[in-house]
Amino acid sequence: MIRVDLTNIQSALGLPYEAALAPRLKIAHKHLQNGDGVGGEFTGWVHLPSQYDKEEFARIQAAAKKIQQDSQALVVVGIGGSYLGARGVIECLCSPNYNLKKKDTPNIYFVGNSLDSDHLTEVMELLEGVDFSVNVISKSGTTTEPAVAFRFFRRLLEERYGKEEAARRTYATTDRARGALKSLADQAGYESFVVPDEIGGRYSVLTAVGLLPIAVAGVDIEQLMAGAASMMEVCAQEGTENNPAWQYAGARYEMYRSGKKIEILAAYSPAFRFMTEWWKQLYGESEGKENKGLFPASVEFTADLHSMGQYIQQGERHLLETVVRFGPSDFENPVPFEEENGDGLNFLAGRSMDFIKTQAMDGTLLAHVEGGVPNIIVQADKNNAFTLGEIIYFFEYSCGLSGYLLDVNPFDQPGVEDYKKNMFALLGKPGYEELGEQLRAKLNR
Ligand code: PA5
Repeated sequence: MIRVDLTNIQSALGLPYEAALAPRLKIAHKHLQNGDGVGGEFTGWVHLPSQYDKEEFARIQAAAKKIQQDSQALVVVGIGGSYLGARGVIECLCSPNYNLKKKDTPNIYFVGNSLDSDHLTEVMELLEGVDFSVNVISKSGTTTEPAVAFRFFRRLLEERYGKEEAARRTYATTDRARGALKSLADQAGYESFVVPDEIGGRYSVLTAVGLLPIAVAGVDIEQLMAGAASMMEVCAQEGTENNPAWQYAGARYEMYRSGKKIEILAAYSPAFRFMTEWWKQLYGESEGKENKGLFPASVEFTADLHSMGQYIQQGERHLLETVVRFGPSDFENPVPFEEENGDGLNFLAGRSMDFIKTQAMDGTLLAHVEGGVPNIIVQADKNNAFTLGEIIYFFEYSCGLSGYLLDVNPFDQPGVEDYKKNMFALLGKPGYEELGEQLRAKLNR
């Protein structure tokens, strides 16, 4: 169960705002539930945890099993919403060091999320002598970064295994009917999974987009969906007192109205780092438009207390901090006692790492609130697949509510096209000749 603790923002907010905001939250909530708000055609994720395609889910599980049996590595090709969720979940549940661990599941390499030649070469080198499969993920099927990367890995697969076996080792997750990737998949006979029309990239982690790589890493995707389904029921309720998403969305909106400009998502677990990357895309693309929106940033504590801690404590006061806290670790790790006490740490001897972390969390919380950084706590249970399913759905639902409170369409991303147009023009893509000339003149080329 997710609990939102707003105790530490109260001093930053003047009047009780819940009553004033409740009618607007109710409207936003109804729009999400009924899919009749702006961008409502992209609210398929709202009921997904109970209404997903069970036949496809079983195919995902079967494909994951096959990949686990015939591959030592899975190359996942994708970017943005077709990348961050899977990586976030795998790092959070299986470790950021997943590829280095002794395990009976394949290594997972994420490519197509940059245009970096060194990275591409490195992954190809890592695949030497390694049996591998490829999961290419692109809803549009036309995104440049993954499309280019897929050319390289498609060729590598075909050189290694021949065309037929290469096709058997390629899994395409894309639109049901449209796009270059769909055509490629149909021609070559790749096993295909669908990104539903009514679910945008950044809300798609609980579709095949995230589920196939996550299942290959050995995560129990049934538990992940069960956690999301449980949070879906909680978030379907009306009222700030019952619904943690109403509490979080309402509080951060009120903080924004009171002048905060940046929300930092913090966690005290290195494994959560890529979940914060996923969260940044979710909120940044959903809210950052029409000159509005909190800028979503992230930190990993306690590491970043030694780098960003100074700014958070005393820099410009435009920050709001949201901290995701997990329940206790399975590992106690009491600090060993040392007779000599050369490091002076015997006052901690016998204390578990969790105990020390809790004091660090509480101490930091008090310091930040005192320093003018209001703090929202998102308290989750023990880190496992069920809990992470809850967290994913909670942040998605809160994001939809937040977007509607801001009066923006939380499900489009028109600004993303601008860099793409310029890049295509500079690369000489047919149809962009005139823009290409204008841009080259600006660049003096
Ligand atoms: O959320 C979004 O829509 C984007 O971030 C996309 O996920 C990203 O651009 C990748 O798009 P596609 O899956 O079409 O390749």
